[in-house]
Amino acid sequence: MGKIINENIWRLIMLNYYINTENRKSKINKEIYGHFSEHLGRCIYEGIYVGEESKIPNVNGMRIDVVEAMKKINIPVLRWPGGCFADEYHWKDGIGDKSLRNKMINTHWGGVVEDNSFGTHEFFELCKQLECEPYINGNVGSGTVQEMQEWVEYMTFEGVSPMAKLRGENGQDNPWRVKYFGVGNENWGCGGNMTPEYYANEYRRYQTYVRNYGENRIYKIACGANIDDYNWTEVLMKNANNFFDGLTMHYYTIPSGDFWNKGGISLEFDEVRWYETLKQALRIEELIMKHSQIMDKYDPEKRVGLIVDEWGIWCDSEPGTNPGFLYQQNSMRDALVAGISLNIFNKHSDRVTMANLAQVVNVLQAIILTEGEKMILTPTYHVFDMYKNHQDAELVESFIQTKEIGDVNANAIVPNIIESASIDSDENLNITICNLSIEEGFDIDVNVTGREYTSIEATILHNDMHAHNTFEETDNVKPEKFTNFKLEDNKINLTIPECSIIHLKVK
Ligand code: AHR
Repeated sequence: MGKIINENIWRLIMLNYYINTENRKSKINKEIYGHFSEHLGRCIYEGIYVGEESKIPNVNGMRIDVVEAMKKINIPVLRWPGGCFADEYHWKDGIGDKSLRNKMINTHWGGVVEDNSFGTHEFFELCKQLECEPYINGNVGSGTVQEMQEWVEYMTFEGVSPMAKLRGENGQDNPWRVKYFGVGNENWGCGGNMTPEYYANEYRRYQTYVRNYGENRIYKIACGANIDDYNWTEVLMKNANNFFDGLTMHYYTIPSGDFWNKGGISLEFDEVRWYETLKQALRIEELIMKHSQIMDKYDPEKRVGLIVDEWGIWCDSEPGTNPGFLYQQNSMRDALVAGISLNIFNKHSDRVTMANLAQVVNVLQAIILTEGEKMILTPTYHVFDMYKNHQDAELVESFIQTKEIGDVNANAIVPNIIESASIDSDENLNITICNLSIEEGFDIDVNVTGREYTSIEATILHNDMHAHNTFEETDNVKPEKFTNFKLEDNKINLTIPECSIIHLKVK
């Protein structure tokens, strides 16, 4: 193992942290705290939907425990039905009498039978229970323009039309409201292996028929780049930006940096891999900045949002599980990846208008894991809970002096602290701070200008790097009250322990 930089002298030095509440930079759209649910493994089936006949307590087939947990973190938007699954999904298979619905093989994800018992009506029922915006992802890769047009008509048209009639026959007279609609997913890969030029043309054609019926206004989302495919962004912005409101970007934190050899299962990592993983997570900021630069060229007013609708840590699947189900555990490392990423999204909320963690239950960096009727909240869930005050708040200018930590030989060097700060609608200042070090705590002096503050409520998520919750020990990792701070003359002094995340609500 290479040397972990450990200059204890830093313990004696304060890190200066400046927050200027007068410089309000951009609104942090609540949709940045969005989630993603795909027909993949045990995400929809068992994780969310168990059916009305299940012994697991449910309302109209939706697990009560999971829905309540998701509501507690104010889930603002949920993406569905994929992912790669979206470009093989034919929505008419998922409506009408369940016993007559077409069954299909979920070729992408484990080759299991998809019985289509969770379809459009069930998704809208879920969003109603969650009180969140639906984000529907349409099929470009293997679907037709007509199929997409009819889906939008089915969901949103009020009046006399074949699809409105069909919807009524299936028990839903009133149209639903659909704000977010994605025209294809990963069309450079599982969504059809297209070139950007070809997809840009296809996008223009398909989106023509994604209509605004009645009062419904659709925010159209085009498939954007994989990671650092800047040419994709360039071509889409040049050839089609007048036709979309949002352009996606997908980026996963792969612990080893190599998608094909990810570097182990979620709980098996050493100190070096810890820093390597966090370095990979931090890369999302460079990607956002470079894609944004290209977008700025064609859209200096920032009308088009950058939609990071797939992000999170992707490890090897847990041994003994179907590798096609992408099931992984979730530790303090995941919590730090989430805390870092959300702070970065906040900082770039002038361009990033939505982000969706992959995925909400039982898949990849899940916030919730289930086993039969048991459910646990992961460390990542708690980060979303601690950060929820940033939703729809105003990002304020902030800067912290950092130092480099990590492993020199492995070239895994990261800053010790990542933060962001915002003002909510009650004028409270919410600060979220991540300490990336697994061995050092830091003293921080926060200088707040622009407003007078008199009190603080604070929570901390703090534990060993491998700490996680299990179905037997559900509360190993959970937020605790944090008291190691002083507020005097509008200056906050605090000590953040190693491997932790803090939320301060300053009033
Ligand atoms: O989230 C898992 C998969 O990752 C999604 O289906 C796909 O869009 C991406 O490649």
